[in-house]
Amino acid sequence: MRKRFVIAIDGPGASGKSTTAKLLAKKMKYIYIDTGAMYRACGLCSLENNIDLKDIKALEKMLDNMEIQIKYSQTGNQIFLNGKDISSRIREADITKLSSEIAVIDIVRKKMVELQRQIGKDGGVIMDGRDIGTVVFPNADFKFFMIADVETRALRRWKEAKDKGEKISLNDIEKELVWRDRNDSTRDIAPLKQAEDAIAVDTSDMTIQEQVDFILNVIKKGKRRKIYSFICITLYFFMRVVWRLEIIHKERLESIENCIIAANHISAFDPLFIGAIIPGEIYYLAKAELFKNKLLEKLLKHVNVIPVKRGRIDKGAIRVVNEVLQKGHSIMIFPEGTRKATSVKAGIGKFALQLQKDIRPIFIKNSTDFWKCFSGKRRLQIIIAEKIKAESFSQLEDTKENYRNLASNVMKKILELENEC
Ligand code: DC
Repeated sequence: MRKRFVIAIDGPGASGKSTTAKLLAKKMKYIYIDTGAMYRACGLCSLENNIDLKDIKALEKMLDNMEIQIKYSQTGNQIFLNGKDISSRIREADITKLSSEIAVIDIVRKKMVELQRQIGKDGGVIMDGRDIGTVVFPNADFKFFMIADVETRALRRWKEAKDKGEKISLNDIEKELVWRDRNDSTRDIAPLKQAEDAIAVDTSDMTIQEQVDFILNVIKKGKRRKIYSFICITLYFFMRVVWRLEIIHKERLESIENCIIAANHISAFDPLFIGAIIPGEIYYLAKAELFKNKLLEKLLKHVNVIPVKRGRIDKGAIRVVNEVLQKGHSIMIFPEGTRKATSVKAGIGKFALQLQKDIRPIFIKNSTDFWKCFSGKRRLQIIIAEKIKAESFSQLEDTKENYRNLASNVMKKILELENEC
């Protein structure tokens, strides 16, 4: 699993890409790469060498002899063309237009994409442009597509120009943006468009801080998800090879979503074993004491464990479970509460009745018999039942007795599964 990500931020001019990307890079200690600056450098080079953009041979020669150097830091890029700092010059209006014109040319794009891939190959990079998520890094770890209405974008550019003492009308800026949007998005090669798996961020009514926070939040969640699936894949491998896992009614796994998963509990590994075979993420409940150990706390949070205080009603945990189920995730609950329990707790009945969620009973067998499984005498077996549909208990009143009865019925169904082994 790669630790340092490639983050692609695409979008039209003045949509907030570069400001956001720079701040993100600073926060994440990543390198920020402004790919637009590279096309601007190509535009400037063609202008300085009087090259007709239709003259492909001359362009080829220019690209071969041209040396673009980027001094990248988390706060911005300084760009050099054949050793000369051109960072300010490339922001001028003539180069802005020229950069969009030269960016439609195949050989120019090939050269720039190669350079960009080289810079980003080891990760730890936030790259902004038009085609980063679609062409340069189609497998980027995170992709964002920033948009904003043209009036807002024009106003942003106008304010920037005003601050720099440049005299340009708002109307002219808007016209230039509209022209560039069209030119960048209608070209044949690598047009400006949202990658299918990119997250669109409309920045029209967002502050810069909100843009940064939004993206950071997505990255944080995605990072946790990546760790979760890495753990599940590794564990699944061990379960197959070492525990000689057998899943009975595997086809039923496909329909496990937004439900309460109820299982028997004989070994400390049970939650992990069940979590590893279920497609997608599920949430768990575990005693709050486990979270006292800082290292364990970190790990448990990565695998979606919700701490529950035992011996009293933990309203905080109930609220989190409600949220998790309402967001469409599944949660695993052991009707017996703990491994050493002798009676069924009413909790699962309460959640299912109050939230009207389907219940999926699962029976796990031999998870305490590591050596017998390992030596080939037994197998770790997990049996998946048909779901208990919420309709079947939707008429029940919301009473403690009904919670208890429902919980007992679920436990009965779980134990009946043993006959299917
Ligand atoms: O992001 P910018 O405004 O500095 O970009 C200038 C031009 O460069 C833009 O109009 C289109 C082109 N460009 C591109 O084609 N592909 C990129 N990845 C980045 C910019």
